[in-house]
Amino acid sequence: MLSERVQRITRLSEPEVDHLRALCSCWQVLADLSFSDLMLYVKSARSEVFEICAQLRPFTSQTLYPQDMVGTRVSQPGQPMVERAFREGSVWAQKDPVLMDGVPIRMDAVPVRYRGAIVAVLTREGSPRISRRLGRLERVYLDNAERVSTMVCDGHFPPAESPPGEWPRVGDGLLVLDKGGRVTWASPNALSSLHRMGVMENVVGRGLDDLGLGETPVSRALALRSLQDGELVHGDVVVALRVMPLLESDKVTGGLVIAKDVSELRQRERVISVKDATIREIHHRVKNNLQTIASLLRLQGRRLQSEEAKAALEESVLRIGSIALVHETLSENPSDATEFGEVARRIVHMVGDGLVSPGRTSEIKVTGSAGPLSADLATPLAVTLAELLQNALEHAFPDGRTGTVGVELSRDHHYVAMVVWDDGIGLPPKPPEGARLGLQIVRTLTEDMGGSFEITSNGGTRVEVRIPSTH
Ligand SMILES: Nc1ncnc2c1ncn2[C@@H]1O[C@H](COP(=O)(O)OP(=O)(O)OP(=O)(O)O)[C@@H](O)[C@H]1O
Ligand SMILES: [Mg+2]
Repeated sequence: MLSERVQRITRLSEPEVDHLRALCSCWQVLADLSFSDLMLYVKSARSEVFEICAQLRPFTSQTLYPQDMVGTRVSQPGQPMVERAFREGSVWAQKDPVLMDGVPIRMDAVPVRYRGAIVAVLTREGSPRISRRLGRLERVYLDNAERVSTMVCDGHFPPAESPPGEWPRVGDGLLVLDKGGRVTWASPNALSSLHRMGVMENVVGRGLDDLGLGETPVSRALALRSLQDGELVHGDVVVALRVMPLLESDKVTGGLVIAKDVSELRQRERVISVKDATIREIHHRVKNNLQTIASLLRLQGRRLQSEEAKAALEESVLRIGSIALVHETLSENPSDATEFGEVARRIVHMVGDGLVSPGRTSEIKVTGSAGPLSADLATPLAVTLAELLQNALEHAFPDGRTGTVGVELSRDHHYVAMVVWDDGIGLPPKPPEGARLGLQIVRTLTEDMGGSFEITSNGGTRVEVRIPSTH
């Protein structure tokens, strides 16, 4: 959105627009250190007007702009400052608070440089501070805000190759380093994190690497003059560190370390992954149990004399096998939904193995995709598919005929559709006598899923099952 807006207003090149986008992905640090709202202005290609293309509120202070400012033209009295910063390429700070709509604000304008050219102007706007009563934390924050502003103006901020994703906040814990990597100041939250890591002594004046915490990314960041991430682990406590070198006239003058205790996050990730493994394990056991039941039935079937009873057990074995296949697929996948195409292919394999006399039909192909389906849909659909395939293989090609059977899957916003077709003899004009279970099962299951099915017989048979995809 930012890039589209900027491209509409200006004639900035793609890398320049990317620079602005990168700036806006990490400028929260600057807003928080400055206790200020930030506005990003770009200059219109057609006129002398500057327009706000992005806005950010601080977490450390109240915003002056509860309303959305994006798209607004620069207002008086900001105009001359923004213009001058853009034209002259240096930071313009207002000495005394200026009045905006009758409210006094403190404001400065920072040119945003990319490869030597000024591409935009960033303003910092906050409530005036009563300077004689500034606390130490405020002074450190404001002081470092100046350093980061200078980096924006020199083209060193946003840092090159800053990792994607949200930045930790300075409020999570901040350590300020001198150019040798020694701590000059630590915020209360940073100290608490260090305490939890077992560091009880005073850290000011010491290097983070000398605290016995193991290797930190500090020396790498300062040596390479680039942003570096790292993680410190002490028992159950995990603290994520982001180290940003502070540069002035291309020289490292120090660094900022944002330290965030991520122990709980990591703990939660662990719990989730254990849960995932447990669920997979349960599916695996259910599958095994179903297969055991199937083999028991098969054994029993062998001892029976009646052909009808034998056939009934054989069919039950197949139905149970279809359900087992769904659990097998779920046991291999950490999510609670299963890719139904995969289940379908396995069912084709299973039914085909048991039924196809070789040479009668060509290989049964599964085409299309039904996407991921939850177990409560995948299971009945799997059983349905097995019944329909079985019918096609059993009834469509009598007397040594040959032909093709296929399965088509599709999905739209509302429905999952499964078509099983064959080019066999088609349905008999009159339903055959006797206790038929197959299509009965198909009907019951599709109705249970809130769906419907349709059989058409026209030079072959085609059964389409449709079930709502948002079950
Ligand atoms: N693809 C098909 N081609 C030709 N006839 C079919 C096809 N599918 C079903 N039929 C006919 O429809 C009848 C009913 O099918 P249904 O699945 O309900 O019972 P069945 O297959 O005979 O028995 P069961 O499924 O219980 O073993 C079948 O007996 C068969 O005559
Ligand atoms: Mg049948």
